[in-house]
This record gives sequence, C-alpha cells and structure tokens, in this order.
Amino acid sequence: MEKNIGILTSGGDSPGMNACIRAAVRTALYHGLKPFGVRRGYDGIIDDDVFLMDSRSVSNIIHTGGTILKTARSPRFRTREGRDAAYQNLKKRGIDALVVIGGDGTYRGAAEFIAEHPDVKIVGCPGTIDNDLYGTDFTIGFDTAVNTAVQAIDKIRDTATSHNRLFFVEVMGRDAGFIALRTGIAAGAEAVLIPETVTTVDMLLEMLEAGRQKNKSSMIIVVAEGDEEGGAFAVAEKVKKRFDYLETKVSILGHIQRGGSPTYADRVLASRLGAAAVDALVEGETGVAVGVVHHDAVRIPFDHAVKHVQDLNPALLRLVKILSL
Ligand code: F6P
Repeated sequence: MEKNIGILTSGGDSPGMNACIRAAVRTALYHGLKPFGVRRGYDGIIDDDVFLMDSRSVSNIIHTGGTILKTARSPRFRTREGRDAAYQNLKKRGIDALVVIGGDGTYRGAAEFIAEHPDVKIVGCPGTIDNDLYGTDFTIGFDTAVNTAVQAIDKIRDTATSHNRLFFVEVMGRDAGFIALRTGIAAGAEAVLIPETVTTVDMLLEMLEAGRQKNKSSMIIVVAEGDEEGGAFAVAEKVKKRFDYLETKVSILGHIQRGGSPTYADRVLASRLGAAAVDALVEGETGVAVGVVHHDAVRIPFDHAVKHVQDLNPALLRLVKILSL
C-alpha cells in the first residue's frame, strides 16, 4: 500500500475543487497515508513545489471556490523530459500515488505518465465546470456554474423585459453545450445555441419571428462560447441585420461562472469523489477516473474517458423548444 500520496488540481479551476482536496486529504489520513499537496498542477511536480498536508491544512475551505493548491495547464508535462523530471521528484519524495483533479487534459497527462512510469499509481477526479467528461453524470463545479449563469440571466431578464430587448447571453463551454442547455432551461431562454447541434441563423430568425407573431416583448438566447456560429457577439451581429423588431443586446458572462462558493450538490459530489479516489488507490487501482453514474460511484479507465464524448440528453433539447412556445 502507498505511504505518500500527492494531490493536485490541474486545468481550469472549478467550484468544489477545494471540497475535493479536503476529502482526499482526510481520506488519506483516515487510511494512515501521508498526503502531500502539489501546487500549480503538473508544473508543481516538475518544480518540486510539494508540501506535506494535515487535516488542518484543509480546514475552512469546503465553502470556497477556486483551489488552494492553485492550478495550471502544463505544456512542460506534455514533453517526455517534463514527465521524467516529474517522476524523479516523486521518487525523491517517496510519492508513489497521485490524485489528480481536473478535466480531460488532466486525464490525458496522467495516462501518458503512467504508461511510462507504471510504478506511480494515479486516480483522477472530474473537476471542470463544462461537464464534458465521459464516465460521470456530473463534474465538480458544473452545478455551481449553471446556478451562477441562471442567477445572472434572471437579472438580465428584468432589464430585457423593461426595455423590450432581445438578449444574446454567452456562457462558457468551449467544446460542449452542457452549461448552455441546462442554463437555458432553468432561465427560460427562447433558444440555446450549442456546439453539439446545428442552429443556423435562418433557423434562429424563424424562431424569433414566431416569437414576434406571439407578441413576445423580450427574448433571451443562450449561446455557448463554442457554438459553430461563433460567440454571442457574432450571432447577434448576423441577427440584428435581419430582425429589428426588438433592440438587440449582448452579455458575456465569462469567468464569473468559474468562481464562487460551490453549491451543496457540488460539495457533496466533490466530497464523495475525493474520498473515492483515495479509496481506489488504497485498493491498488491506477489509470482510472472516479465518477458518479445514476447516483452510484464508478471507476472508468482514463483511456476510455478521453476517447468518448458525454452525450447531451435529447429530451432536454426538446424541452427548450416546447417551453419557448
Ligand atoms: O474548461 C473550462 C473552461 O472554463 C471553458 O469553459 C472555457 O472555454 C475555458 O475553460 C477558459 O479557460 P481559461 O480561462 O483558463 O483560459
């Protein structure tokens, strides 16, 4: 059984990462292991920016956004030299197990590392607001990000209604529309533009025109930043030229979606997964990510997780259409 275990966060931060770190540290202590914090993701292993943690190192963080371990995307870890330097540092400290919290870039890095250095065991936890990881129904931070976006759009709706305006609201999601879809339903949007489905400007105009016929005096369109028509500004520009019934405005929600206190759902998910990752290492697992599918804790190999794409629920897409009548 591993004695020293490293814990790191990598890629874009997400609310709930701290709850996950807390759970991993305390579960490691519960099993009699020594938890080491690694700062700035994989860069921290390469730079040996590593420190011993105890149960007090993770006091009073369950409710905070961001990550106390800091995070980074590490171009150096994508090189063989970088990974070898990281390996030497881990060996020097006697760390032979890692919990890595992040998105698919984090999983890819871990998979490459253990292919070259199988004596280090790695288990991943899905930490990203995008929810675009295969092998878990929800990722840590997604629920908080959607709640943040919904609260922001509720406020936008007030002013949209007062001024009879058409708003294009851009939410995060470089490659995926999960945030946009759930936000659109919860905030009562007329339409949701996401990378997974094609909605042309013509289709959008048809819908806006239908809204006009039904005397809608304001409308809200949620646009995922990765939509094929471009972001909210690009779509609004194209629509404005052909639809002047309502004045058009654009709002980009941006990084507010990445911060803030995690919701109860994210805190519970993060706590479960942080503990599950350490339990998996104690049982000798490696090369897997933990997740929750249909409420049950599961483990999925990194290779499998990065090769598959999480499907959008078509019933939710249908719902957007029906509810915008
Ligand atoms: O992957 C999470 C995410 O928030 C994406 O939705 C977004 O496109 C990207 O990160 C932005 O990353 P950064 O702010 O780190 O450049």
